[in-house]
Order: sequence, then structure tokens, then C-alpha cells
Amino acid sequence: MKSSTFNRLLSTLTHTGALIPFAWMLWDFFTHNYGPDPIREFTLRTGKTALVLLLLSLACTPINTLFKFRAALRLRRPLGLYSFMYASIHFAIFIGVDYFFNFSLIQDGLLEKRYAIVGLTTGLILLTLAVTSTKGAQRRLKKNWKKLHRLAYIAGILAVIHYIWLVKQGVTQPWYFAGVLILLLTLRVKPVKNWAGSRLKGV
Ligand code: HEM
Repeated sequence: MKSSTFNRLLSTLTHTGALIPFAWMLWDFFTHNYGPDPIREFTLRTGKTALVLLLLSLACTPINTLFKFRAALRLRRPLGLYSFMYASIHFAIFIGVDYFFNFSLIQDGLLEKRYAIVGLTTGLILLTLAVTSTKGAQRRLKKNWKKLHRLAYIAGILAVIHYIWLVKQGVTQPWYFAGVLILLLTLRVKPVKNWAGSRLKGV
């Protein structure tokens, strides 16, 4: 297959895959298929999808380093932007539907709960990364662009902390996400990166 055809196919698959959870949510919303607490249900679904897409976006660089799969690098931006999209819907449900734009209640709700403060910080980082993800911003920020976009890892760490803090004790799922994130962060450490890259050279 020609490399331009392959890149187009990969890009189409990424966009389709990232939009499926949204289409599914719309379908469930309009068919009333959402259980007894729809606000919580859609908050959880959008939060989980934002986190998965953020981790997938963070996985692109290690995938290229390990498998010399350069096409993965092109997917970082769309995956990051889709993560931001789901995080925005997640936040909108929280302030618009759950708190009905009652800002004094929101303020209490945000400042009271540590997981919400961490979630908000993650959201603000994703917003900054989304706004500066354009070619123009890349040109203007020069070397600083790369440094700024390393914040994506901080966003990943904070999103996992947000998740760990909001679940009841004994719920193990956030720790699987923490494990994936630790693996991705470890693969960024130079000696590990070089070692893993050389081990996989012949693969
Ligand atoms: C913008 C500020 C944010 C606020 C105020 C917020 C608030 C919330 C709330 C209220 C819940 C549901 C708690 C419950 O009922 O059990 C939740 C769950 C969650 N949020 Fe956020 N969140 C924010 C940002 C984010 C971001 C940016 C991410 C990921 C990138 C994220 C990922 C999650 C995840 C993974 C869950 C749990 C999903 C599950 O249990 O299945 N949140 N968040």
C-alpha cells in the first residue's frame, strides 16, 4: 500500500474511532438508554473517553521510538484534540447540567473537592495545548513549543490522580490507567528508550 494511502486510512480510522463514543452517547441519550442517573452516566463516560484518548496521544511518541512507526506521530494532535473535546463536554455537563450554571455552587463544589481542582487544572492544560496546537503557534513559539507541549504528560498524571481521588476505596480501574501512564513515562527516560529501541530493532 502506498504510504499516503496508508496515512489517510490511519487518519480516517483515528477520527472514526475517536467519534464513536460520542455517537454512542448521542444514541443512548436520544433512546433514553442511560440508567437511573443520566448526568453521572454521561459525566463518567466523557471523563473516561477523555482519559483514554489522552493516553493514546501520549503513546504515539513511544510507539514511533520503539517500532519506528512514524505515522503514529501524526496522530498525536487529533487524539489530543479529541481528548480536549470530551473533557470540555465532561466539564460542560458538570457546570451546566449538574450545577445549572449556579456559579456560587460551582465555586463551592470546585474548591471543596480536591479531585475537581485537579480535574480543572487538567482541563486548563488541555485547553492551552489545544489552542497552541496549530502550525502558526508552533512557528511563533519555536523551541518553547516543545517544552510547552511536554505539559501533556502533566495532564496525563493529573487526569489519573483526578480519577484515583474520585473513586471509592477498593476500585482498581484507575490503577490500570496509572500503570499504563507509568509505562509511557518510563519509556521517555533516555536509557530505557535506548535500551528498548535496541531490543526491538530486529522485530
Ligand atoms: C474540567 C474540570 C473537571 C471536573 C469539574 C470534573 C468532574 C468530574 C466528576 C464530577 C466526575 C464524576 C464523579 C462521580 O460521580 O463519581 C468525574 C469523573 C471522571 N473524570 Fe472528570 N472532571 C474534570 C476534568 C476531567 C479531565 C480533564 C479528565 C481527563 C482528561 C477527566 C477524567 C475523568 C474520569 C476518567 C472520571 C471517572 C470515569 C469513571 O469512573 O468511569 N475529568 N469528573
